[in-house]
Amino acid sequence: MTPKLDLRSLRLSKKIRQRDLAEALNIQLVELRKIEKHLTTPPETLLKQAANFLNVDLQDLLTHYSKQPATVNFGEGYTTGVTKEYFSVEAKTSFDKNRIPILDLFCGSGGFSHGFELTNQFKVCAALDLLPDRVHTFAQNHPDATTFCADIQKFDISKLESLSNHPRVIIGGPPCQGFSSIRPFRALIENDPRNNLFENFAIAVNIFKPEWFFLENVVGLISHQKGQTLQAIIQLFEQLNYTVEWKVLNAALFGLPQRRERLIIVGNANGKKFRWPAPTHLLDNDCRSMVSKQYDPTKDISLSNQKLFPSVTIMQAIHDLPELDAGQSSDRYRNDIIMTAYEEKMRGQQTQLTLHQATFHSPQMLEIIKKSGFNKNALPNGMVKSGFSTSYSRLEPDKPSVTLTVNFVHPSSNRCIHPYQQRALTPREGARLQGFEDSYRFWGTRTQIVKQIGNAVPPIFGQVLAYALLEQW
Ligand SMILES: C[S@@+](CC[C@H](N)C(=O)[O-])C[C@H]1O[C@@H](n2cnc3c(N)ncnc32)[C@H](O)[C@@H]1O
Repeated sequence: MTPKLDLRSLRLSKKIRQRDLAEALNIQLVELRKIEKHLTTPPETLLKQAANFLNVDLQDLLTHYSKQPATVNFGEGYTTGVTKEYFSVEAKTSFDKNRIPILDLFCGSGGFSHGFELTNQFKVCAALDLLPDRVHTFAQNHPDATTFCADIQKFDISKLESLSNHPRVIIGGPPCQGFSSIRPFRALIENDPRNNLFENFAIAVNIFKPEWFFLENVVGLISHQKGQTLQAIIQLFEQLNYTVEWKVLNAALFGLPQRRERLIIVGNANGKKFRWPAPTHLLDNDCRSMVSKQYDPTKDISLSNQKLFPSVTIMQAIHDLPELDAGQSSDRYRNDIIMTAYEEKMRGQQTQLTLHQATFHSPQMLEIIKKSGFNKNALPNGMVKSGFSTSYSRLEPDKPSVTLTVNFVHPSSNRCIHPYQQRALTPREGARLQGFEDSYRFWGTRTQIVKQIGNAVPPIFGQVLAYALLEQW
């Protein structure tokens, strides 16, 4: 008999619960139910994840689903949920007038802002994001800010002018997916949904004319359209009379246990050139940069005149968290070991552990995990048929981690299996690698929180940029 190749039959044959499959695919249960009832056709990206998780051939799944009638737009519903009704969360405390006000656009869960605030010199007065769960997390951790849940492309940014605090710095990380071109500033119109997200950021800069702005983005922007996109973005801000510079920073060089590289674009309204922060930590030679040698942030090590600390490793960041099997969770810290300086900083005064919840893995996945090494080649031939070279791979205990993705609780994602335990990272371990203290409160379901953590700008970036800024303000 030919085996059935729809997700429901495969799931049942492997004795996987519906909610575990939904979790593994990063979709809501209701979405999976629709797929299983053939009310909606899953997009190819989702089938890839399903093939990885269920350990079946992607081609078989594609063939099966190509025979199903398409019922909805592909991709529909695969976000963490966007409200139709926009809302704002009002500031709960009055703004401290001794702090420098910041506006955070595309604020997400607030990592970038948090870093600025850690200096005790800056405060966010207003922030905006599209997704309600991000907005609630941001608002919980930034009670002095009014946080708006809105699509920036449809939002009247000038509304923010009525805020009692005029922002002197604007920060933000617009997602760069899906834009084709950047137009000259004079061609932009406020509230025009055709503006791409960088252009909306520029409109805000033009309205508020802050002394400084900081744009954060993926390093892929440097080579996007052979560098023309980055040049166009720079020109856009130069038309607004800002002096613009950019640089790639690697968070591990500033003491994060993660080699996350980000492009930072800085603009100043008074013609000042930004003096970039110097690295404080070393990095092993084999931890190469993702970008070309030309922009390699590790080159900065030689420019630093401070005594550099060794890099912070994964185990130095998470070894005070209790061991877990797949599917288990714990709310108790380990108190039988000596914490590292990094762990002490992260744990702070917290006594109850949160978000230390390991993903449930199927028996097949557990077999893969047990045999996994630092890359997929460590697995016996044919054990998994798809994925990147760093899928189903274990993190190296004595190094900073590779870049965390939004799927770091699933072994099929970029190297995210615990260095010694038989499971993927927990959300708490991910938050530690991103540098969020354990007291930072995330709002939402576990799936939403994992995405918030994986998508965040590590607070350390905001903090080192803010300190550098204070020195030259
Ligand atoms: C890379 S994340 C930002 C991370 C954040 N800066 C931090 O520090 O954690 C990009 C954010 O842009 C938001 N976003 C995407 N499209 C948007 C839109 N049209 N309007 C407003 N926010 C949007 C996403 O919801 C996401 O939270």
